[in-house]
Amino acid sequence: MQTLIEQPSIKIGNVIIKSKVALAPMAGITDFVLRSLIREYSKNSLLTTEMISSEALVQKPDCNITHTNEKEAPCSFQIEGHKPELMAKAAKILEPKATIIDINMGCPIKKIVNGNDGCSLMKNPKLAKDIVIAVKEAVKIPVTCKFRLGWSQDSKNFVAFAQLMQEAGANAVTVHARTRAQMYSGTADWVEISKLKGEIDIPYFANGDITSPQNAQECLTISKADGIAVARACMGDLSLISRIEKYLNEGILLPEPDLNEKIKMLKKHLDFQISFRGEETGIKFFRKFYPAYIKNVRGGGEYRHRLVTELKYDNIVSILKEIEQGNE
Ligand SMILES: Cc1cc2nc3c(=O)[nH]c(=O)nc-3n(C[C@H](O)[C@H](O)[C@H](O)COP(=O)(O)O)c2cc1C
Repeated sequence: MQTLIEQPSIKIGNVIIKSKVALAPMAGITDFVLRSLIREYSKNSLLTTEMISSEALVQKPDCNITHTNEKEAPCSFQIEGHKPELMAKAAKILEPKATIIDINMGCPIKKIVNGNDGCSLMKNPKLAKDIVIAVKEAVKIPVTCKFRLGWSQDSKNFVAFAQLMQEAGANAVTVHARTRAQMYSGTADWVEISKLKGEIDIPYFANGDITSPQNAQECLTISKADGIAVARACMGDLSLISRIEKYLNEGILLPEPDLNEKIKMLKKHLDFQISFRGEETGIKFFRKFYPAYIKNVRGGGEYRHRLVTELKYDNIVSILKEIEQGNE
């Protein structure tokens, strides 16, 4: 007899996501192309766009960064900024395309925090709250926020901050288990995230350092989160989210793609970038992905150097063949 597997789901406002796994936003990485490819492997996970500047979007509503299609859903569109009225306008522009609007309150980079955006909102909870209120008033779809543990080790305010965002109307939150001061250093503190349990009524996603189905399960257990969001480890492995889902839902551990499969994924990703952006731009844009796809190969350093400096498609394909042959 076939066992029926209960579909795990998370209710975010009036939307049901039939998965506990989300693709976390990455600027310059989680574009339409990467999201679409991940969707081919995982039907139900929540995808997220790159952060979209509210100021830029309001000036130019039809920019490339907002490109999507119906196959991508459920997809959360992340906006970034600090002016409630502009954030509300941006959310309204995106509403027809988005399943959810996510608000960036965690970006640590100088240019962003110096402009009072991203993680600097954790130092200005009143403004963060006003942004959520304004965005909630502007759209009917759910609104979520993504932030960190706090600005620094001695100002970890994520629990109170999450409560405030909930009060303002946020329908879920994602917490990257590091402070702004840590940027991306050290290890993500999943235990710390578990302090949210029982303190908010909305679902929360844990984020940071999830790299495999097993450690995804571990993160869920330790953080007591409703879901998890995975970012960097999805670069170079289009199947990771679906493999995590398989493990969480059915206890089945699918093997990591081997080098041949990774090179197939790489080629598919590169080809799609080229058809989306044109040959020259697509090839240049793709340079940042090579290291992730050809991690741990013999002679990796030299291959990477050749790939990132190569502009001709046919030569790239030849180098990939060389890598496969050199690693048989
Ligand atoms: C290249 C890059 C770009 C990122 N861009 C965004 C972004 O646009 N919005 C955001 O909220 N977080 C962004 N992040 C942070 C990730 O969403 C995530 O919080 C962080 O990488 C930790 O998760 P991980 O260990 O799974 O990578 C970015 C991270 C990286 C590495």
